[in-house]
Amino acid sequence: MSQINIGLLGLGTVGNGVVNILRANRPQLAALNLKITRAAVRNLYPKREALYADIALTTDPASIVADPDIDIVVEVMGGVKDTYPLLVAALKHGKHVISANKDLLSEYGPALTDLARANHVGLYYEAAVTGAIPILHTLSQSYAGDTITRVAGIVNGTSNYILTQMVREGRTYEAALKSAQELGFAEANPKNDIEGFDACYKLLILSRFAFGMTPKLTDIDRQGITDLTAGDFKAARTLGYVIKPLAVAAMQEGKLVLTVSPQLVASSHPLASIIYENNAVLVDSLNTKEIMMSGPGAGSLPTANSVIADLNTIASAIRDNREPAPFTSLRAETVVANGNDRRAARLVAVRRPESAADAVRTAIGTTYTKPLTENGVSYVLTKTLSCDQVEDVKAKINAIDGAEFLHALPVFE
Ligand SMILES: NC(=O)c1ccc[n+]([C@@H]2O[C@H](COP(=O)([O-])OP(=O)(O)OC[C@H]3O[C@@H](n4cnc5c(N)ncnc54)[C@H](OP(=O)(O)O)[C@@H]3O)[C@@H](O)[C@H]2O)c1
Repeated sequence: MSQINIGLLGLGTVGNGVVNILRANRPQLAALNLKITRAAVRNLYPKREALYADIALTTDPASIVADPDIDIVVEVMGGVKDTYPLLVAALKHGKHVISANKDLLSEYGPALTDLARANHVGLYYEAAVTGAIPILHTLSQSYAGDTITRVAGIVNGTSNYILTQMVREGRTYEAALKSAQELGFAEANPKNDIEGFDACYKLLILSRFAFGMTPKLTDIDRQGITDLTAGDFKAARTLGYVIKPLAVAAMQEGKLVLTVSPQLVASSHPLASIIYENNAVLVDSLNTKEIMMSGPGAGSLPTANSVIADLNTIASAIRDNREPAPFTSLRAETVVANGNDRRAARLVAVRRPESAADAVRTAIGTTYTKPLTENGVSYVLTKTLSCDQVEDVKAKINAIDGAEFLHALPVFE
């Protein structure tokens, strides 16, 4: 079979992993005759060119997406503003595209998918969600005869690493973040991870694959992990829970409820066992009930392995002289829940003087537990409250002299 030429956009952590896996020349891949012929980087220097002597390096990614000899463009450079036009150009030039870029695909996935269909090429992006875990292929292929009711995941390794350090090693949030940065699990500017944006991007992509819906970032009830304290973990543990950074998309009465927040997970639940930087996705469905996949959500070879799986899918279609199937063909009208529809029992944390105890109790309403108090903060597990009701409780508590509503963490059930 004639050689299939790959143009890499980016030769960093993931790009290097792709090169290394292809260099290992596994028999299944060898049969596809894949070859990285060109790669774009920001900086060119002799040592780098020597390392990749068999790949023509350039600082001009636009030249790769327009190169008539390139069959598949693999985008592993990141960024949105400058990268989106490159992917548009690649598809318009009739190239198949593989990407690991969740930021870009969460926003432009539907538009790029339409463009890929119009140009009869494939657009695959398994590596964009939970690195090594083949969740998108699984959702698109293995649930054809099923109805998914919920997808819940630990999809941000940085947040999971930080919370695990806080629980297991008793570190403060700041110390755990510093440790994550030193080990390369958190970026110098960790905002995307710790405030939940990265998990939101992945949840938007998961929603398309699980439900065929295309919600927006603003449809997600998002809460970061920055204000969690040892007191939250202690209260959760006393009640039989651990706090995990969850991204959840669930169908409730025909509406999609989307949440990214730290949540209370029963200590015995499989998601509670996913620790440090690991990721997991739990799928609930009518036929199969619960299935959970877990593993590394990032890293050079784990993430590149998912890129290679996409290469295998696309190259197999090229070999068979057919158009690759759409990555997902599920489409449904997007109906998202509002604040009144998002209901959960919640662990409410309130800073209050003893004199305000009765007033705070009245503001919160019915609860499952008596207040647990730690360092002047009172924790109570409420009965089911909608997001709108939480806002109401918050306003009432903050109106009480000396009391401050800190947060309300949903209970995952
Ligand atoms: N790292 C992971 O574990 C992981 C996991 C899942 C998904 N992803 C996604 O994969 C993508 C790549 O991540 P990464 O960690 O591999 O990034 P990275 O290590 O920073 O590598 C980025 C590469 O792209 C090149 N590059 C960036 N902008 C460029 C431009 N304008 N023109 C030419 N080359 C450019 C860089 O060149 P220089 O080397 O010269 O700077 C570098 O080689 C991102 O979208 C990320 O979100 C990463």
